[in-house]
Amino acid sequence: MNERDSEIMLQLLEQQGYLLCADLDSADAVIVNTCSIRGKAEQKAYSFIGSLRRLKKKKPHLIIAVAGCVAQQEGAKMKARMPHVDIIVGPQAIYQLPDFFRQAADATAVIATSQHKDFTIPPFLPDIGHGLPHKRFVTIMQGCNNYCTYCIVPYTRGREVSRRPEDILAEVRHLVDGGVREITLLGQNVNSYGNDHPAGGQTSFPELLRQVAAVPGLVRLRFTTSNPKDLSPALMACFQDLDNLCHHFHLPVQSGSNAVLKKMNRKYTVESYMDKVRGLRRACADISLTTDIIVGFPGETEADFLATMDLLEEVRYDSAFSFKYSSRPPAASCNLAETVSEEEKAQRLALFQKRQNEISLERHQEYVGTTLPVMIEGESKTGQGQWSGRSSHNLIVNFHSPRTYRPGELENVTITEGCLHSLRAELSQGDK
Ligand code: 5AD
Ligand code: SF4
Repeated sequence: MNERDSEIMLQLLEQQGYLLCADLDSADAVIVNTCSIRGKAEQKAYSFIGSLRRLKKKKPHLIIAVAGCVAQQEGAKMKARMPHVDIIVGPQAIYQLPDFFRQAADATAVIATSQHKDFTIPPFLPDIGHGLPHKRFVTIMQGCNNYCTYCIVPYTRGREVSRRPEDILAEVRHLVDGGVREITLLGQNVNSYGNDHPAGGQTSFPELLRQVAAVPGLVRLRFTTSNPKDLSPALMACFQDLDNLCHHFHLPVQSGSNAVLKKMNRKYTVESYMDKVRGLRRACADISLTTDIIVGFPGETEADFLATMDLLEEVRYDSAFSFKYSSRPPAASCNLAETVSEEEKAQRLALFQKRQNEISLERHQEYVGTTLPVMIEGESKTGQGQWSGRSSHNLIVNFHSPRTYRPGELENVTITEGCLHSLRAELSQGDK
């Protein structure tokens, strides 16, 4: 989401005559786009913003803007702590950035972090020249109404706001006409897309997916991310019906313990989650599943953690992102006493990651001998005819070929080796 917002900000400022520069020292303006999902991300943002003080001293005309969720959350507090920052802009206000830059150039500080009930995401056609030539993100909604107790997103990104289907389709058509071959639809919780539309104008997420998939020339379609509670049979059916929908589903489970899931306000159980996993695998036998896990949520017992480890064995994810719980006021869990020590969290995380890595490797080895189309990303850094692409499952596939490819081309390869983070392959017979 931040990556896409960064592209939007860049495009808006280029229209004002700014140019992207290669290094910080030659910049006349700096935008720090921040994430506050965990404490560590916020600390990193603050220390980087602090380090810009030196640059501002050397170059008093330098404009420093901070965007993203830390900006939204901190607002005026950030200005008090970091007076060298000129613009503090929350996710809803990035479209006004050119105005804010004009004000900052006149030495007027800007704090734009108010959230509006009736906020809508304006229609916006991306510049084809920005970002990767073959694959791009398209935002379909912003914000979240779920209030998982550990999560700061509903406070920083605000309530759910869905974009109009016609705006989304226009953006996808524009990108595909410009040569883009793969689109990832983005939202904090794509399954509730459309729930906020006025009565009568409702398009559900599965309906939107079908409309986007039908855009002529779109080779691959992905989406992220989903709360399992809203994963519907209609969405599962899309995997049966849509040829260009990729065989990958990121389905964050967070914990394998019903007691912890309840305290997290996730609104599903391990049993209902497993039903959905089975449903997805029925709809698409080779679907790759990935997840997010939090260890050390307040009150998580050893038995709760072991239940997460059991779930890992049952689902066998292709890969997982795993995190130590971090308290994020004003998210509700900040009022719960932390019962798991930092040391215990680190131990649980290490155990989880060790086992998940073994499973990832085993899963990746299961692909050996299969022939898959990969979408070329580019020549690998080592050069010498080594190419890198992605399978429909979103796995990185490296192979050797005497041919030269453009990013976005498809090539059929046969997998020869499964590694922890990627697959090795050779050109399929007939393509050599
Ligand atoms: N502490 C640790 N991890 C968190 N996540 C979200 N909030 C927290 C938190 N307070 C993780 C969840 C989510 C992912 C994007 O970040 O696993 O799915
Ligand atoms: Fe956060 Fe839960 Fe919304 Fe995901 S669904 S963004 S974890 S509140």
